Parts: sequence; C-alpha cells; structure tokens
Amino acid sequence: MDQLPSANTNDAERRPNRTPRRLAILTAGGDAPGMNAAIRAVVRMANGAGIELIGAQRGFAGLVYGDFIQLANRSVSNVIQQGGTILETSRSTEFSTENGRARAAENLRYRAINGLIVLGGDGSLAASRAFSAQSDLPVMFIPATIDNDISGTDNSIGFDTAVNTALQAIDRIRDTAFASERLFFVEVMGRDSGFIALSVAIGGGAEAVIVPEIPFDLNDLCRRIEDSQQRGKRSSIIIVSEGPRTGGAIAIADHVTARLGIKSRIAVLGHIQRGGAPTARDRLLASQMGAAAVQSPLTR
Ligand code: F6P
Repeated sequence: MDQLPSANTNDAERRPNRTPRRLAILTAGGDAPGMNAAIRAVVRMANGAGIELIGAQRGFAGLVYGDFIQLANRSVSNVIQQGGTILETSRSTEFSTENGRARAAENLRYRAINGLIVLGGDGSLAASRAFSAQSDLPVMFIPATIDNDISGTDNSIGFDTAVNTALQAIDRIRDTAFASERLFFVEVMGRDSGFIALSVAIGGGAEAVIVPEIPFDLNDLCRRIEDSQQRGKRSSIIIVSEGPRTGGAIAIADHVTARLGIKSRIAVLGHIQRGGAPTARDRLLASQMGAAAVQSPLTR
C-alpha cells in the first residue's frame, strides 16, 4: 500500500512500509459517554506516531457515503468531558449489505486509508468483523457501549457512566417512594444485557431485579411483593431491564396491579442513561483503549 506523507517524517523514516500512515476512525451504534475521550486519545496518539487520522461521520454510513473529516490535534480539544460523540453515529442499514461494505472499502482505498478504528457495541463488532473479512482491511475495535455486552472485556466505555446516571435517578425515586409509601418499577436500558439493571439494583438497594438473562416468574414476583408488605415494608423499588425478554416495566407493573390490586408507579429512565459527561473511570478507560488501538500490532 502506498505510504502517504507523514506529519512526523523522522518517525515515518524509522519504520518505513510497515506502518499504516493513514487510519480512519468512526463511532457506530448507540453513542456511549466516553466515546469522545477515546477519539481524543486516538487522535493524540496517532499524531505523536506520525499517523494521519481521518474521521468517518455518522458511523458506518460515513464510510459508505464517503463522509470524512480530517482529525488534527486541535479537533479534539475540550471534548474529553463531553458525552455523545463528535463524529456522530448511526445504525447503518446500508453497511449491513455486501454492496454497502464494498462501497465503504472502495471509499477507504480511494483515500489510501489502510486501517480502521471502530468504537461501538455488539452490532458494530459484528459489522466490523464482516467488513474486515470482506475487505481485508485491518479493523481495531474499541468496545464502547452502555450495555457492557462485549465479550473479552470486563467493562466497555460508557457502562460506568450509565450506571452512575441511573443510580442517581433511582436514589431520587427512593426518596419519593419512601415519602409516599409506594411501589416503583424502574426500567433501565441494556437491550439483551442485564448489566446495568443488576449493577443499579445492587448499588441502589432495590428489592428485586429482573434481567433478560435469568428467566423469572411473575407469580413469584407477586408473592415476594406480598411477603415484603406483610413484613411491614411500605415502599419498594424493583429494577426491570428493558426489552422484549423481560416484557418491560409497564407490562410487569400492570400484571402486579391486576394480580394484587396494588397501584404502583413506573419510571422508564430511557436515553438519559446514554447522555452526560463520562465518569472519571470511563475517561480513563477510553484514554487507555484509544491509545492501545493506535499502538496495536496492526498499526505498528
Ligand atoms: O445499545 C445501547 C442502547 O442504549 C440499548 O441499551 C438500547 O436498547 C438501545 O441502545 C436504544 O437504541 P436507540 O437509541 O437506537 O433507540
């Protein structure tokens, strides 16, 4: 592959022909707090190593439509503390087709890009694998999703922030639940993964948690609620992981009302869990993972 002129000539001369001199980066799927911190680390590390970095906008769609921007050191000033992603993101349907991926590969080849860094969740990981196999282009994947459902890593970027955001909301709900002696069902995100639900249930002292990975029995839940009321408990919080596998908080609350005649309150936390400034832990993780992606054997 042709080597492009590098910003750091000395570095380029020291490692001729082996180093991709031009990488692309994108963020795909659901955004996660800390994505910007990771982009920043990639940009700064790449710059230090004399690697040119180009950002594809709106996820894989940016590759398909050739929507690129140059990323220089200054492009990532003051973003480490920002949620969302400066590159924007999408769930690209075009990229899920062979034709779409071929078009994306062509756009990268045309710009002499010889490596791709992808930040995303499980869907983006599968898309990255398919793309790498089809195009023969090295893809470095950085796990960044609030769902924490990526194997091979204990924590994905954004998970810690989402848990803390949800926990703050649950603490507030507990105040009003206690004051008004109410049963609350709080629905949290996670799609097919119960990591957020389990973490906030433990951290928030919830009475019960329903996650997609563990089958549950609605009648058993009703019995537990009855038991706790008989023991004199007058307010309770039950955490429900979203999604078709649990049925969601609304359906479960309806069942409890029909069965026990207890009126409950429901709070669906939704996308507030995805926004906001990343925690210190997510910033650190993102910075480490971003740096590691540039230092990976694929870019050396
Ligand atoms: O993958 C992250 C996530 O926030 C899931 O927890 C959630 O189910 C989904 O994205 C929501 O996606 P969208 O923002 O496209 O509605």
